[in-house]
Amino acid sequence: MKIMVERPQDAAPVEKLNDVAFGSDRYGKTVYRLRDGVAPEARLCFVALGEKGELLASLRFWPIAIGETKSPAVLLGPLAVQPELRGMGYGKALMRHGIEQARLQGHKMIVLVGDPEYYNPFGFTREQALALKLPGPVEERRFLALGLTPDALDGVAGMIGKPPGLAKAAQKRRKRA
Ligand SMILES: CC(C)(COP(=O)(O)OP(=O)(O)OC[C@H]1O[C@@H](n2cnc3c(N)ncnc32)[C@H](O)[C@@H]1OP(=O)(O)O)[C@@H](O)C(=O)NCCC(=O)NCCS
Repeated sequence: MKIMVERPQDAAPVEKLNDVAFGSDRYGKTVYRLRDGVAPEARLCFVALGEKGELLASLRFWPIAIGETKSPAVLLGPLAVQPELRGMGYGKALMRHGIEQARLQGHKMIVLVGDPEYYNPFGFTREQALALKLPGPVEERRFLALGLTPDALDGVAGMIGKPPGLAKAAQKRRKRA
């Protein structure tokens, strides 16, 4: 298995995997309000590939901005492993790689909505997300965050939205459509 940055030819298999893992109705979820019209962080989208180059698992991150200060952060997900390959460590390997890369690329905070039982061991907690709000309903206990630097949470509070420039671009695209 090798982990590499997602390439253009991975996009279709990744979409298919996410449809299998989360259903094609996943776009109605609150986190998709933050992804709608915004490209993922290209340098933080990873695929795990098998020996023949087949897609085993995928992890993407999206850029977000928090509160009135528009503090930049990233939204983790979707994370998905091919159904027949689950429980073999691919998810954990992608998580470790993704978090490390986010840190190396200078990000200060990662936010996600997911099962705490899975994400707590990577350092994500409900406590670190208590000052944050999402633009729609989520199950409280699944709304988690991880600060990547000692001061990551300082003064970071409020509603999570799209990064300022990208939000406007997405709005314009929607008006044209
Ligand atoms: C969740 C998912 C990404 C985990 O990846 P994986 O490669 O199957 O898991 P790993 O092999 O890395 O880790 C396995 C461990 O995670 C645990 N685990 C898996 N899914 C879990 C979940 N939803 N909640 C809690 N623990 C979970 C397993 O019980 C196992 O625990 P152990 O190490 O103590 O035995 C994968 O199962 C998947 O694609 N699921 C469907 C999509 C999904 O739910 N994505 C996550 C969004 S919250």
